[in-house]
Amino acid sequence: MIIAVDGPAAAGKGTLARALARHYNYHFLDTGSLYRMVGFAVLVRGHDPRDEAAALRAAQALKPDLMHEPDLRSEKVGEAASIVAANLKVREALLGFQRDFASRAPGAVLDGRDIGTVVCPDAEAKIFVTASPEVRARRRHAELAERGEVVPFETVLAEIKARDERDRTRAHAPLVPAKDAYVLETSAMTREDALRAAIEFVDGRGK
Ligand code: DC
Repeated sequence: MIIAVDGPAAAGKGTLARALARHYNYHFLDTGSLYRMVGFAVLVRGHDPRDEAAALRAAQALKPDLMHEPDLRSEKVGEAASIVAANLKVREALLGFQRDFASRAPGAVLDGRDIGTVVCPDAEAKIFVTASPEVRARRRHAELAERGEVVPFETVLAEIKARDERDRTRAHAPLVPAKDAYVLETSAMTREDALRAAIEFVDGRGK
């Protein structure tokens, strides 16, 4: 059983996907962190994330211990991730790992942008989590403040919009709901509401 959870930045898909994995006792993979690891590795080596050869080298030499790098969640690394993610060769380099992970028994929950459309088009349950840019910026702003990153709200909102635009309009695996995805609009929902709705949907798919 594969549960694909996609959606734009800061929509709460990570929180939801993790909670679903816990609920069903499935494996969980935050695929955004793979792109963040590539973005981080490129920046650490002093390269520009737009440098396609440098990004591909970083993707091919990805070290799992980067997963625990505290700077992975920073805005700077998020932006670098979004830039390297537009590179088809980088995406291809990360595909095998994601698909292998998805096939783990008894099941896996993967969250990202293209899980239901490209990585696991045959996933049994696909959820597209979204919320208005303002609500997402508010959530991301609070998350950054918790990490001690003081960024004006307007800056966070502008960055969220820029990232949406880049993720939606890129040529390869753009951010779009799969045709058979359940769209979960969480602007007016608590985490618990969203989890309940998602479980209802997955159970209805014959989990
Ligand atoms: O979900 P996140 O904010 O950690 O993702 C960071 C960037 O990685 C995001 O802007 C786009 C990219 N990404 C992607 O292209 N495909 C995925 N499956 C996951 C993330």
